[in-house]
Amino acid sequence: MALLKTVRSIEELRGLLAEPRAAGKSIGLVPTMGFFHEGHQALMRRSRERDGAVVVSLYVNPTQFGPSEDYLEYPRDFGRDERMAQDVGVDVLFAPPDEEMYPPGDTTLVEVTGDLTARLCGQYRPGHFRGVATVVTKLLNVVQPHRAYFGEKDYQQLLVVRRLVQDLHLPVEIIGVPTVREADGLAMSSRNTTLTAAGRRAAAVLYRSLERARELAAAGASDARELLAATGEIIAREPSVKLQYVELADAATLAPIDRVTGRAVLAVAANVDGTRLIDNIIIGG
Ligand code: PAJ
Repeated sequence: MALLKTVRSIEELRGLLAEPRAAGKSIGLVPTMGFFHEGHQALMRRSRERDGAVVVSLYVNPTQFGPSEDYLEYPRDFGRDERMAQDVGVDVLFAPPDEEMYPPGDTTLVEVTGDLTARLCGQYRPGHFRGVATVVTKLLNVVQPHRAYFGEKDYQQLLVVRRLVQDLHLPVEIIGVPTVREADGLAMSSRNTTLTAAGRRAAAVLYRSLERARELAAAGASDARELLAATGEIIAREPSVKLQYVELADAATLAPIDRVTGRAVLAVAANVDGTRLIDNIIIGG
């Protein structure tokens, strides 16, 4: 499979994958909502290095957007995405229409419960992780990959996917890929392109604030209040960056912590120019 093939139906996709599967090749899946950047391409490259066939799904999943969120305005550029996938050697781009992913009359949802979905972004995006869990389960069932690749940039999403794969006994290995950043540290995101030039410059404060907390933790600070105050203080220096939350949580369970004793995730969400941005780092452990 040298040239990228774009397919829209599950039937055609399964037909294409029958051959590499029968030949014993491993199949890698990279689920995306398109409008690719180097973060997406890093996931595709990881799969290209390890798998015999690389499938990228491109589907802007309506069920993970809240009623006041940016589903209709979510950036799209299919031609550019095809070229960027081709450039890193993707074999199949699966871009289904809504009725293929959600058959008419569909009433099934997949929900991961507890701290993993209630905390961090879950407090501000009700139903979001149910939409993610539902579509990821569908994609895993459609493609039946040996491995599936997810970015650590969406750390909570990565944990939700790991949980559902474990709980539903899905035979797939979930691979987490480190966050790819712009030169000034801003985590790459399809949503960054919607920022104004001033907002784009200001947004770099998010990673700077996380880095500062990392330094403090490396120098021995472990009190959550102290680390969170330092992070919040730096973000407050950019008034156009409207902090939604900054939290420290256990890196495995997302339960809140008062003190860093093992691996912890420091996660932040903020609105810039009406665009919601998230970032995180792991400290301790
Ligand atoms: P999307 O935002 O398009 O992201 C697709 C994948 O790319 C996710 O696993 C995400 O974590 C990863 N990614 C995004 N930015 C990254 C960066 N800067 N560095 C590394 N990886 C990055 O996440 C989704 O789509 C959807 O929720 C999806 C899983 C496809 C379900 O609809």
